[in-house]
Amino acid sequence: MRLFFLLISGLIVAVASKGTPTCETDNDCNLNGECLPGVKTCKCDSGWTSSDCGALDLRPATRGTGFNITSTGTSTWGSKIIHDPHNPKLFHLFLAEFTDDCGLDYWSPYSRIIRAESTAGPAGPYTFTQEVVGAFAHNPTVIYSPADRKYLLYYIGCPQSPPETCTDPSFTCGPGNFINGESGISLQSSTDLKTWKFVGQIFQGANDDAWDADVTNPSPFPLWSHSDQTSEILLAYRGCPVNCSGNELLNLATARSFGGPYTKTQSLPLFSAPNEDPFIWRDKRGHFHMLTHSLEPDGSFGSGPKVGRHAYSRTLEGPWTFNNQTLAFSTLVEYSDGTSVNFYRRERPQLFFSEDGQMTPLYLSNGVQENGSSMSYSVIQPLAGAKQWEKTFGLAA
Ligand SMILES: *[C@@H]1O[C@H](CO)[C@@H](O)[C@H](O)[C@H]1NC(C)=O
Ligand SMILES: *[C@@H]1O[C@H](CO)[C@@H](O)[C@H](O)[C@H]1NC(C)=O
Ligand SMILES: *[C@@H]1O[C@H](CO)[C@@H](O)[C@H](O)[C@H]1NC(C)=O
Ligand SMILES: *[C@@H]1O[C@H](CO)[C@@H](O)[C@H](O)[C@H]1NC(C)=O
Repeated sequence: MRLFFLLISGLIVAVASKGTPTCETDNDCNLNGECLPGVKTCKCDSGWTSSDCGALDLRPATRGTGFNITSTGTSTWGSKIIHDPHNPKLFHLFLAEFTDDCGLDYWSPYSRIIRAESTAGPAGPYTFTQEVVGAFAHNPTVIYSPADRKYLLYYIGCPQSPPETCTDPSFTCGPGNFINGESGISLQSSTDLKTWKFVGQIFQGANDDAWDADVTNPSPFPLWSHSDQTSEILLAYRGCPVNCSGNELLNLATARSFGGPYTKTQSLPLFSAPNEDPFIWRDKRGHFHMLTHSLEPDGSFGSGPKVGRHAYSRTLEGPWTFNNQTLAFSTLVEYSDGTSVNFYRRERPQLFFSEDGQMTPLYLSNGVQENGSSMSYSVIQPLAGAKQWEKTFGLAA
């Protein structure tokens, strides 16, 4: 009897130590890792964690990094890190800054696009270097197009001269929105990140009853690879009905080259769940991924911690899977001094990847707002591989 009991408990221990199977295929690992045969558990790629590899493996941020000039009265939003092509110790940050000390509520029409520089690593701190596009210009993101040997700046807006006292007059930058001018995606190109040439408004909304009559939140990705040197560009965007009077949902468009025309890959939204601020990329295996700002009831604009979601697809044509189980990132940012800030709002996710072809996410940047403040700034938080990567450039202290 005693021996039988020992045998049984031994068997239970043996089964338990093998772990509970969590995956059948790599899809169950969010395509951010591999489902190990036999044990059927996920082995996550660097930068990803949790049992389904659906959470970003974030590490403590350092106070004073990113771009936070709220002490001077100025608010900023979002940010995209670009590594200088000639100077390995130089990093550029493209972000939105609100003129006239207007807070986040006045992003339209006070937002302009600026460039800041850092020689302290991708996380910064960054210092203001130049205005790139004057007000109203918002939602900037920059990619390098290898086929064109150009940097491409995608953004929304059109020139406005708002009064010095913060107000929000109704205006339009094209079809789809007559209230805050957000509809319509514009593009500028550059070879040196400093001088920019206006290409045009390359993706427009419509004054009809479409779910995506209003188009904004551009996230481009060049489909170029060593084996297929195409100039094709993939563009994720957020749509909503005219004047953004309904759900904010996501979709994709592609263009043969950056100047357009951009054609929607499908007519229906990618996901039924409301999301904005998509950030899209293709990984080392050729699979597609997206981070989003989730507008679910426990996230959204100050309603709770569930602000960051991840979605994936094996091909551009889909089907896309939206991970509504594991949160990709929350409103909580931990700092290396042991403190933490639970932000009221944390949006506009953008990643900086390793440059070795592995597409390892190394830094996450967001626009943030603290609870009880009307101002906003840009946080940059490192991921698991960041310290090692900084060492290779002689940047880490
Ligand atoms: C950003 O700057 C403000 C004003 O100086 C400061 O109160 C806040 O703590 C800073 N944020 C972080 C994360 O350090
Ligand atoms: C959009 O807003 C403008 C300006 O307020 C208004 O004139 C127009 O009727 C609105 N359109 C729709 C479809 O709501
Ligand atoms: C989560 O996603 C699954 C699969 O798409 C869906 O069946 C389920 O209803 C979703 N749950 C919630 C809470 O949205
Ligand atoms: C934000 O501040 C308000 C009052 O200032 C407070 O009631 C609320 O609990 C705070 N929210 C969080 C998430 O800290």
